[in-house]
Amino acid sequence: MANNKRTLSSVIRGIWIRILTLIIPFTFPAQLTTMLHRWRGVKVGRGSKINRTVQIDDSRPDLVSIGKNVWVTAGVMILCHQRDISQMHVGKAVMDCDLLYKPVAIKDGAHIGIGAIIMPGVTIGEGAVIGAGAVVTKDIPPYGVAVGSPAKVIKTF
Ligand SMILES: CC(C)(COP(=O)(O)OP(=O)(O)OC[C@H]1O[C@@H](n2cnc3c(N)ncnc32)[C@H](O)[C@@H]1OP(=O)(O)O)[C@@H](O)C(=O)NCCC(=O)NCCS
Repeated sequence: MANNKRTLSSVIRGIWIRILTLIIPFTFPAQLTTMLHRWRGVKVGRGSKINRTVQIDDSRPDLVSIGKNVWVTAGVMILCHQRDISQMHVGKAVMDCDLLYKPVAIKDGAHIGIGAIIMPGVTIGEGAVIGAGAVVTKDIPPYGVAVGSPAKVIKTF
C-alpha cells in the first residue's frame, strides 16, 4: 500500500499523533498509556497493556491492531512504514523512494518481550511469545515462541 499524499487534515492528524507520542513516555499506569495509543489510532482490545516506552509508528498508527490481553513490554518498536527500496538505484537518495505502508497485527494473548522490533506487514499469532530483543520480519504462528534477529520460532506451546 503506497500513499504519499498530504492533505490539511492529514497534517493536523499527524501533529495530534506526535503530541500524544511526546506525552506517552510520561504516563502511567499502562492502562492510561494504552488509552492514549487508542487516541493515536491504534486498535487495542480489552485487557491489553502497552508500556510507556513502546514506540508505535507515528505515520500510520491506525494500521496497528492489537488484540485482547496482549502485553507489549518496555522498549518495543512497531513499524508500519518503510521506503520502497525496489525503486532505488545509484545516484538516487533513499528518501526519494515512495513510502510503503503495511499493517501489523498482534493477536489475542500474545506477549512481546523487551526491546523487540516488529516490522511492517507482520502478524503475530494468538498466544505467541516474542523474545527480548527479537526483530520480527515474518509472521509468527499462534502459540509460537520466536527469538533472535531475524526472529525464528524455537518452540510452540
Ligand atoms: C523467549 C523466551 C520467552 C524464551 O524463554 P524459555 O522458553 O524459557 O527459553 P530458554 O531460556 O529455555 O531458551 C531457549 C533457547 O533460546 C535462546 N533464547 C532465549 N531467549 C532469547 C532471546 N531473547 N534472544 C535470543 N535467544 C534467546 C536461549 O539462549 C536458548 O538457546 P539454546 O537452545 O541454544 O541454548 C525468553 O527468553 C524471553 O526472551 N522472554 C522475554 C523477557 C521479557 O521481555 N520480559 C519482560 C517482562 S515485563
